[in-house]
Order: sequence, then C-alpha cells, then structure tokens
Amino acid sequence: MKKQVKRFFAKVVTAAMLMGTVAGVGFVPEKTVSAAQLSEYKNVEFGIKYTGQTKAVKNASGDAWSIEYFNVTNSAFETGDTFFVSTKISGASNFKQVAMQSSVNNWDWAGAPKKWTEAGTADNTVVSGMVTATEDGDNISFKIQLDNAVNATEAAEVDITLTDLYIMKVSKGSDTSADLPGNKQLDMGTRYTGTVDAVANGDVYEAQYFNVNDSSYSAGDTYIISYKLSGANGFKQVATQSNLNNWSWSDAKKVWSGEGLANGLDVSGDFVAASSGNGISFKVRLDTPTSAEAVPADGGNVQLTLTDLIVVKVANSDSIDLPSSKTISKGRSYTGPVQAVKDGGSWNVQYFNVNNSAFEVGDQVKISFKVSGASAFKQLAVQSSFDGWGWDNAPKIWRNDGIADDTTFSAVMTATCADDNLSFKLWFDNPVDETFDGNSVDITLTNLMIKDIQKVDSLQDAYENHFDVGAAVSASMIDDVEYQNRIKGVFGTITAENEMKPDALLNQAASQEACQGDGDGMPVLNLEYSGMSKILDFAKDNGLKVRGHALVYAQQTPDWFFHVGYTDDGANVTSEVMEARMESYISQVMDFVKTNYPGVVTSWDVVNEALNDDGTYVENKWYETIGTTYIRQAFTYAKASVESTAKLYYNDYNVDQTAKYRRIVGIVKNYADGVGIQGHVTKDYPSVSAIETAIDYIANNNLDVQITELDVQIDADQTLAVQADRYSELFTLFKNKSASISSVTVWGINDGNSWKSEKRPLLFYDDLTPKPAFESVLGVVTPVEP
Ligand code: XIL
Repeated sequence: MKKQVKRFFAKVVTAAMLMGTVAGVGFVPEKTVSAAQLSEYKNVEFGIKYTGQTKAVKNASGDAWSIEYFNVTNSAFETGDTFFVSTKISGASNFKQVAMQSSVNNWDWAGAPKKWTEAGTADNTVVSGMVTATEDGDNISFKIQLDNAVNATEAAEVDITLTDLYIMKVSKGSDTSADLPGNKQLDMGTRYTGTVDAVANGDVYEAQYFNVNDSSYSAGDTYIISYKLSGANGFKQVATQSNLNNWSWSDAKKVWSGEGLANGLDVSGDFVAASSGNGISFKVRLDTPTSAEAVPADGGNVQLTLTDLIVVKVANSDSIDLPSSKTISKGRSYTGPVQAVKDGGSWNVQYFNVNNSAFEVGDQVKISFKVSGASAFKQLAVQSSFDGWGWDNAPKIWRNDGIADDTTFSAVMTATCADDNLSFKLWFDNPVDETFDGNSVDITLTNLMIKDIQKVDSLQDAYENHFDVGAAVSASMIDDVEYQNRIKGVFGTITAENEMKPDALLNQAASQEACQGDGDGMPVLNLEYSGMSKILDFAKDNGLKVRGHALVYAQQTPDWFFHVGYTDDGANVTSEVMEARMESYISQVMDFVKTNYPGVVTSWDVVNEALNDDGTYVENKWYETIGTTYIRQAFTYAKASVESTAKLYYNDYNVDQTAKYRRIVGIVKNYADGVGIQGHVTKDYPSVSAIETAIDYIANNNLDVQITELDVQIDADQTLAVQADRYSELFTLFKNKSASISSVTVWGINDGNSWKSEKRPLLFYDDLTPKPAFESVLGVVTPVEP
C-alpha cells in the first residue's frame, strides 16, 4: 500500500509541475508555472495561476460591475508585445458579458477579450484572449467588467470567484511572423502567417492537422493556441480542437458570431493537457453557414488566412528583478544585486525565502544561478532549511583562483527534514587573499531559480532481488545536475553510450608518431580527461557499476587503426601486427580502468556485433585482418588484463535468432562469462517467447545473460500506453528469468537524446519526468493495488 501512495503522489507532482523547454525561433518561454492564492492587493506575476475570491463593484454609470485593478509585477512592455490573459469566473451568472480590459492596449474596449453568454455566465466559464500592445508602457494593469444583467439589479457588490487567473507574455513585439509551412508543421513559440484550405467534412469545413515539432507534454501542462482568422465570413462558428484534451468538443476554443465571422477575428484559447503525450496537434473547424450560398459550390474548399498563428506553453517569461525582500517564487528566474556581509570568517547573503515552499523529507528542488563579483573567494555554498541548515550536504563550488564572473552554480538538493518554508543563504569563504577583510562585497546573481524536481522511484531498488537496472549515458549528461540526479536516483549501473568505444579513445596522430623512430608502433589512446573518465568519475563517486562498452567493435573503430602506419589510406597490416594492436589496445584500456577506477567496471563487452543473423561472420576490418580467430583472441587478451571482479561478455543484436545465438554460444563458451542481448526492439518484434528461448539456451550453457541496450521503438501511430505494455511484458520475462540475468540496461535516459529519438523509445520525457513506460516497468515489481 505504501508504494501505491508514493506513486500516486508522484503523479500529482507531475501535474503540478508544469515545466519544459521548447524549441524554435522567436520568443521561447521556458519556465514553470505554479499556483498561488490571489492576494487582496491583486498583484500578480507573469505565468503564475491565481485563485481567489473578490468582489465586482458597481460602477458610477450604474450598468456595469468591475473588479479593479490587477497589477502585474515587472511588466514593462513594448509596442507589439502580445499577452494572453485568462481566468475562470464563477458568481457572474446574472451577467451576459464578461470583459477584460487592460493598459496593454490603453484600455481599448474593442480589443478587450470578452465572453458573451445569452443565458448568463455559468460558473467556471473561461474568459481569455490575446492583447497586443499599441504603445510602450511600464506597467500592465487590467480589470474585469461584468455587464448586461440578465435580471435588473441594483446590487452594490457581487461576490466573484476567480480560478486559474493568469497573464503571460506570448511573443515579443520584435518577433516577425514566419511563413506558415505547407505541411502545417510548426515550431513552438514562432508566429506564422499563411493560407490554409478548410476542406468539407460532412457539414463542417476543417483545416486539419497542424502539428507542433518536439512537443511532448505532461498531464496538466497548459498551452495557448492563438491566431487571427480571415476568410470565414460565410460561417457563424470557428473552433480550435486539439489532441491536448483528446479533441474534446466541449473544451474546444470556439467563437460564435451570428453575422458571420469577421476578418481578423481573434481566436485564442488555452488547452490543458488531459494526459501525457508527444506531439501536439490541432485543427481549425468551421460550422453553421450564414446561408446556403455561403458554402463553396461542388464541395470546394474554403480558403482561410491565419495571421500570427502561435502555439506556446504557459510559462513565465523573462528573468525579473530580484526583489529586495529576497522573497522569490518557484519556477521563476530572478536577476539582481545582493550584498555578502562579513560574519566572522565568512561573507553571507542572508536570507532568501521561497513562496509556497513547504517540503517533506526526500523532496527535491534544483537551485541554479550565475554569480558575478565573487572573485575574492574560493568557495561558495548554499546553506538552507532544506537540510536543517547543515553544512556537509550544502552544495558548494570551490575555485582555487577565485570564483570568476558568470560562474554557474547549479545543484539538486534533497530535503533531509520537513519544514514549512524553504529559505537559504549564500555563503562565501576562503578569500583568495587571506588578508581580505572587507565588510561587504557586492555580488550579482543572474537567473536565480528554484525549481521542483519530480520524485521518482529507483528501478535499481525496485529490482534489487532480481538484477541490476542500468542506462546508457553520455558525458554531456554528466555535466547536468538534473541528469545526474535522475541517473543515480533510478539506476544502479551505467554504460557509456559512445565514450568508451575505440573511435572515442584512439589518438591517430600520436599512434602515427609511435610508428616513427624508436616508437613501438602500438596504438596511443586518450584515456585521461576524456568523456570516459568523466563517466567513470561519476560512477565511482556515486557507487554505480559500469558496463565497459565496447573493446572490439569494428563499427566504431576507425579504418586507419588497421592500416600500416595508422594512415587513412594505407594497406591493412598483417594478422600478427593486428593481433598485437588488439592486445595492446585491450590491455591499455583495461589497465587504465582497473588502476584508476578499481571495482567500478564490473562487466566488459569484449566483442560487439561480430556475427550476422545467420551465424556467419560480419565482414569487418577485424575479420579481414585476423580472420575468424579474432573473437576468441579478444577474450584471451581481455582475460589477461581484467580485474578479477569483472566479467567478460560477447554482445550483439538479434540474439533471438536461433542460428545467431547458437553460433555465439559455440564461439564464446569457455571464453566469455556471458552474452549481452542488446534489445533494440519494437512493439511486436521479437516475440517474448523467442527472447525467452535465447535466454534459456545461453543460460543452459553456463553463460550469464545481460540485457544491454533495451529500447522499445514505436511508430507515430502507436501510443505510449502500447509502449508501456511492451516494456511491462519484457520486464516480466526478465524478472521470471532473473536467475539467468544479472542486469538489464536501457539505451539512454530520455527520448530526445536517444539514438532513435523519433521512435520515442525510452522511459523518460525530455524534462526527465517519467513516461507511462517507466510506471509500467516499476509496476512489474510493485503492482498497483486496485
Ligand atoms: C550507438 C549510439 O547510441 C549512437 O549515439 C552512436 O552514434 C552509434 O552507436 N549497438 C551498440 C551501440 O552496441 O554501441 C550502438 O550505440 C547502438 C547499436
């Protein structure tokens, strides 16, 4: 039961944590949005949704009731800047019209977003729309007005509840519209103008389907889809429908005009994702012709012009000024000066407070900022209530020469206690000049942000009674604290996706030099300060195992390695020379690893992808130079250098093929400790039983099995739920066979960084929140109770 509660909690956090980065030119919002209580002062910040109660007060004119004035913090704007305002309103059922007027367009009534409901405005009606600045200004304020009473009233005040009130900047005045591509494939955050055909579909006319590039979304994410519509005068209604809310008709954004839709009509609305998914699409739909003559004759199309069509995620916009109170909101970016004040032997910036930041043990946040002005100090630490003001776990950086301007600080912090308020201070110490004694130091912080990180269960822990669970990683992931956090939080073993392959390690110029004068002619490798060492350092520091991938792998070994003098176009060397090179290469890599990282690499892919599906040899450079003996020779050399605790594997794809696994076993039995089954699979291929047969055959020959490169590649028309089921059936098999399997590794972390990214094959979305496949893999060992 405990597990179930925990996983439910994780889902709630996903929904609440609306984050993501969007691609594309133009204006790109990239921050998160959180909910807040509307204060009685009605001060609001961009990109934050507010909920609260308020009153609409009768105007002097006596025929309208207003909620005045909302003020938007840090909201200077320029001509052409476009903003989206939205709220749900309840309590206005006696009024037919709700309007939001603002200073953005100088309180223009015609340009104010409005909603008219003949029968009165039902509770939870959404009122929203775009406003474009008609002049420069330094502060946005807006008001909500109710008018056209259904039943005459003299009430001085009306009680109103506003839910999810927010304003956000959608695009900058300087953005220009791009041409709408003919395939309707859009980049997030870019404005487009162009014509599209609406095609007859029964009684309605539809422009289908607009698709947004790189747009994976999580349940609860909010997107705005907006455009100005021309050419639809013959119809009374236009609607935008999207897959974000499962093409819902009731939640489609509709505009109705009894006289026909005027040219330049503003059609905009927000869509809240009903579930997680990948690839936003939408369509524009026209219905209810103004007359029979308004529809094109002979089933022809209606040509529409869309102006400033844009899709954006609801998010905060630019970095805003750090308030002097140092009270900040999560998911927002702050920039500003602070003072570090001397306190004994350190200089402190006290105290930052984070709004709505109650936390529990195990909660995680990311803190990040750039710091300038701290070059007098070697060390910077962030001490916080998140860790009971402890020092040991406080994230720190140390720079011997002083902390240079624009140094980035970023860390994921994990709460070691519970508290109602996250507060923190910056602590500078160890002056470069030991005699430094200034009373205060001016520091500038840029893009200071606190962001929630969704908690995720560890697969390594969940499968602890079965096998290790691992992932392929890249050196660049190791530079990113969020990836680090996911990798060590979820997996127990890692594989370098490319950094330990021969093409990454071999140094051609130095190898050529070794062929000159009294050089020994053996290959020279770049081992220190490499992508490999970065990954091994990370593994060592965090107690992760590593699969060493891959020593003899023709596919990623440069041809020059096989040539006389290591030249690009030389002839192949003799088999004797090639054997010596192989031995030298293997021993150099293995010796370096066992000397510098004892116990870290626990399995090695000694030979990778040497056989065809029918069991014949792949005709690669190793085969050409040495012949069929090279596979066993590689194992013999590896055996001579390997640490006693590590195991040797032959690794390949399509190991489910009978001829292939039989041949593999025939060759490596008595040489290898095990066989790696890569596992790049699709929904249907290979079958579970084919994989099972291969596992059994290998295990019956006293060889260990590792699943080394699992990913489930799906097509555009296959759902993430289908993928999740496939992952679940595979992990169920592996669990049942766990006596024969010592590890299962997935080939990457998130879809966007996968070698098959278009096939969305992995367990995490690009924001590192879990996909349905992650939950299903977990579910194999921690079934969710009904
Ligand atoms: C792939 C990597 O994922 C890519 O980044 C790289 O460009 C090519 O190699 N079988 C293997 C892996 O054994 O090493 C391959 O990795 C995928 C297929």
